[in-house]
Amino acid sequence: MNIAVLLAAGKGERMASSVIPKQFIKVNGQELFLYSLKTFASVSSIDKILLVTRKEDIEKMSIIVKNHQLCQKVMNVIAGGETRKESVTQAINYLKINEGDPHNIILIHDAARPLINEKTIKENIQACKKYDAVVTALPSSDSILLVKEKVEKELDRKQIWLAQTPQTFKLSILTKAFTNEIHEEVTDDCGVVLQIGVEPHIVMGDKINFKVTTLKDICLLEAFLKGGKDEE
Ligand code: CTP
Ligand code: MG
Repeated sequence: MNIAVLLAAGKGERMASSVIPKQFIKVNGQELFLYSLKTFASVSSIDKILLVTRKEDIEKMSIIVKNHQLCQKVMNVIAGGETRKESVTQAINYLKINEGDPHNIILIHDAARPLINEKTIKENIQACKKYDAVVTALPSSDSILLVKEKVEKELDRKQIWLAQTPQTFKLSILTKAFTNEIHEEVTDDCGVVLQIGVEPHIVMGDKINFKVTTLKDICLLEAFLKGGKDEE
């Protein structure tokens, strides 16, 4: 079974002027999290979707899901944690109880990336069947600098990739990685899985699958939705 976990339990603190977390900001009339949710729901190979949000927002999110007739694939809306890693841990704990087959393929996606496409989702599933651990990533088109106080050196950009989501794993690997005792600071699931020695396969990302982080990103999203075409 292929299960998508949509992470929407953050506070959106870098979205400085917003009073509500960014997943609920309305863009072109619909809440931000609905963009990726609708895309995942429309992909036939996605069997179920688990939504993770802040405890105080569970009811609000559930109502929006109902109003958009998205209940068919959404298995539940559960509470996340203080950090992204804790939110993923809550999702894994829920899945272990409710869909515990260790071969299940789990796609973890930031609800803050509204423009995820069907092709990337399908490629994640295909690659995970073969490699067990997959990260969507994009080669850097800019030069990469290592900076301390001043520029120390330029890194070889051929070796630098920018991680996106989905990041996709067999449930067995997620379970092992997230119960591991090592607690180095990591910012995504790829980082957690690397700590147990698993080296994920890469699926090519897409510039348009950017993460809405600041108000400028909302402007970018609006501009894209207005008719900006993706130049391949
Ligand atoms: N996320 C989560 N639980 C957390 C923190 C983050 O589910 N405790 C989710 C966010 O909702 C988002 C994704 O992880 O979809 C990526 O995180 P980020 O862009 O950092 O979102 P926020 O944490 O909400 O933003 P900020 O860091 O600016 O507060
Ligand atoms: Mg954050």
